[in-house]
Amino acid sequence: MSDTLGIALVGCGTVGGGVADILLRHRDRLAARAGRPLALRKVVVRDPAKPRDPAIPRHLLSTDPRAATHDPDVQVVVELVGGTTVAKAVVLDALAAGKHVVTANKALLAAAGAEVFAAARAAGRAVCFEAAVAGGVPIIRALGESLAANQVTAIQAILNGTSNFILTAMDERGLTYAAALAEAQRLGYAEADPTLDVDGSDAAHKLAVLAQIAFGVAAGPHEVERQGIDALDPMDIRFADELGYTIKLLAEAWTGPDEGERGRHGEGEKERAGLSSSPPLPLSPSPPPTRRVALHVAPVLLRHTDLLAQVRGAYNAVLVHGDVVGETLYQGPGAGRGPTASSVVADLIDLAVGRAQRTFAAARLWSGADSGFAVEPTERVRSRFYLRLLVADRPGVLADVSRALADEGISISSVVQHEAAEDGGGPVPLVIVTHYAPTGRFKAALAKIGRLPAVAAPAVFYSMGD
Ligand SMILES: NC(=O)c1ccc[n+]([C@@H]2O[C@H](COP(=O)([O-])OP(=O)(O)OC[C@H]3O[C@@H](n4cnc5c(N)ncnc54)[C@H](OP(=O)(O)O)[C@@H]3O)[C@@H](O)[C@H]2O)c1
Repeated sequence: MSDTLGIALVGCGTVGGGVADILLRHRDRLAARAGRPLALRKVVVRDPAKPRDPAIPRHLLSTDPRAATHDPDVQVVVELVGGTTVAKAVVLDALAAGKHVVTANKALLAAAGAEVFAAARAAGRAVCFEAAVAGGVPIIRALGESLAANQVTAIQAILNGTSNFILTAMDERGLTYAAALAEAQRLGYAEADPTLDVDGSDAAHKLAVLAQIAFGVAAGPHEVERQGIDALDPMDIRFADELGYTIKLLAEAWTGPDEGERGRHGEGEKERAGLSSSPPLPLSPSPPPTRRVALHVAPVLLRHTDLLAQVRGAYNAVLVHGDVVGETLYQGPGAGRGPTASSVVADLIDLAVGRAQRTFAAARLWSGADSGFAVEPTERVRSRFYLRLLVADRPGVLADVSRALADEGISISSVVQHEAAEDGGGPVPLVIVTHYAPTGRFKAALAKIGRLPAVAAPAVFYSMGD
């Protein structure tokens, strides 16, 4: 049919196989939703002899991406190769050849979003990426379209299913990190090389994509502070539990006015309650002051009753605070063949209908235009902190630590120290929970604490999400 939307897949592995399956099995459903047929015209892979599910008709297979990007019967190229080298070349080639692009590649968007989107605008084509963040959870549309009346003021999200699976197994079944990771790999939730998942990089890429949509900032790789779960000690999971908390790897964005602090109990909190302390903007043509957004990925202690604390296994969840709507929560499977393919095909339907082209043109993502926001370090993000020290078991240590915290204006909320064994002598863990303090002040106190003679090992500390 002449109005058929021709589609080429470049990459037909976990996600590409799922997309091919939907395109081949649900033709009628997709045509009804899109108002026109969607046809799979090309499938580019590395090894055409590899057995695939679904089986791809031989005449559609190729090993040359140009067979997809230069096919006149293809209007959309779906990049599902991954990485930033071949993927970037394929995407730029497809756009230059006048194709729309759909991708699930958050690493590519985080590293080269500006270049890719500039190429798309120059070519008058769209780039769609619902599948790039939180797999089957429609968070890109929610942020970019459904919440368009809002200024987002904060995001708190579980964006890496592998880490969440590992943390759930450690928390609920007492597994060690190594055992939980091995189980995640056996069940297909973790790659053979899980580094990018467990060191926070994957979540940081996804947070950078969300920050572009929510705040118009193009956060470079070093602007999203990150700490993974790979060094997490089961001891901290147990102490957290004793205090009534669960540890989750959170990707967070906190905003505030130009001056002043933000975060859980700072300006961000006041703004969410509609109590911003910034003065009303003058009715003059002078530009509004730049607002700051701090982006970071780190393990955070959440109360057992917190909605995000209850997100288990490989699931993802995104909590968005909007200045008009308040708090909204999006949850679902964050990866895997079906969920990710579901989002890719939704983008294909949007392109077939013509919606994606209009929203792409209006949104002007990665355009470099001044959004009124700039990325800043987390120094001014206010939080309570969980601090675990290994200290000599002798009088006066707690007083020394309290003094170092007090010197930075930080007071202690609670202390946990278990009785030392009778034969004693060795260092013992000392857990301190602080009241709210700016991250910068807390880190300054830590530097002093690290110099105390009674402190036997580097401090372990995490933010607390309440
Ligand atoms: N897996 C998930 O759950 C998930 C979730 C969200 C987003 N994503 C993103 O989706 C993308 C794809 O991930 P995936 O898990 O589907 O990857 P995958 O299973 O490793 O599949 C990669 C595909 O790309 C093909 N390929 C690799 N290099 C190629 C080359 N030089 N030329 C042509 N084809 C090449 C491979 O061909 P062969 O089959 O012949 O080896 C394979 O079909 C990535 O950007 C990933 O971050 C994945």
